[in-house]
Amino acid sequence: MKVTVLGTGIMGSGMTHALLTAGFDVTVWNRTPAWASLLASEGAAVADSVASAVEGADVVITMVFDADAVEQVATQMAPHFPADAVWLQMSTIGVEGVKRAQRVAEEFALALIDAPVLGTKAPANNGTLVVLAAGDPQLIERTQPVLEALSAKVVRAGETIGDASALKLVCNMWIASLTAGLAQSLAFANALKLDPSLFLEAITGGTNDTPFAHLKGASMLADEFPTSFAVASLLKDIGLARNATASTSVNTELAETLEHIFKDTDQMGFGGEDIAAIYRDFLRPAAATEERAPQQ
Ligand SMILES: NC(=O)c1ccc[n+]([C@@H]2O[C@H](COP(=O)([O-])OP(=O)(O)OC[C@H]3O[C@@H](n4cnc5c(N)ncnc54)[C@H](OP(=O)(O)O)[C@@H]3O)[C@@H](O)[C@H]2O)c1
Repeated sequence: MKVTVLGTGIMGSGMTHALLTAGFDVTVWNRTPAWASLLASEGAAVADSVASAVEGADVVITMVFDADAVEQVATQMAPHFPADAVWLQMSTIGVEGVKRAQRVAEEFALALIDAPVLGTKAPANNGTLVVLAAGDPQLIERTQPVLEALSAKVVRAGETIGDASALKLVCNMWIASLTAGLAQSLAFANALKLDPSLFLEAITGGTNDTPFAHLKGASMLADEFPTSFAVASLLKDIGLARNATASTSVNTELAETLEHIFKDTDQMGFGGEDIAAIYRDFLRPAAATEERAPQQ
């Protein structure tokens, strides 16, 4: 099977690595060519245009930042899309975003699957993402070898395009809540003159323990935020979730607070760093803002 990956940021690069490891013939394209070129040494073919990247592909993956980016890439690929290929749209673009992708797919008769993923840089690299898939079950079947190479499991969210993107927003609100809750507990421990690592020790092995707390907690306590999942990405997703639920009666108070806190973190200059950087906002927002302020 020939697979094309359009967008080789953190996730697209990792997924390319996993596909190459599984033995697929992979072609990559990225808006900024230098990032795609890095994958040549691993065995990926690097295309200099979207049109040439999708030539001869069986499966085309889009893994770019947001709905605008997906639409731009889709518009470039659509006229050149091979007749029997399947488009796995895996970026997080929300329900409205994937409907925009669907309109391009319908106009050019492209076979589209709504397939966002759970998991960050490491699961992308080692092929243990969770794929949330929605669309025609027969089409999903056709991409099964690719999905298996990328993921530890595939959750079938429904047959309607948009169902998987809705589930993805639900999951990312969970991640936002977990990250903020963890930062709050560590910052409270610090404020109460405790060693914050005692919090992690206290929850270890209990019913409210989670590997996530130890992973992101280590990063918060080390005050190091190498990016697996950028603050700006999660902020985009909270916005998508808020838009998607705006016309419903669900209580969005927590979502609004989370959006506010992650926005603060972004404005402190941490937009490109990992979501664990939210700890800075809880701990010492004034100092951090000062540190990041441009030099006079
Ligand atoms: N990181 C995670 O933990 C994670 C987990 C699950 C899902 N996601 C989702 O996966 C997608 C990619 O995330 P990422 O973490 O890989 O982000 P990233 O490292 O910031 O990469 C973003 C990618 O989008 C491309 N891009 C942005 N605007 C574009 C445009 N207008 N046209 C074409 N390409 C454009 C970028 O190209 P350039 O290199 O040229 O900027 C880059 O390849 C996002 O939707 C994100 O929400 C991320």
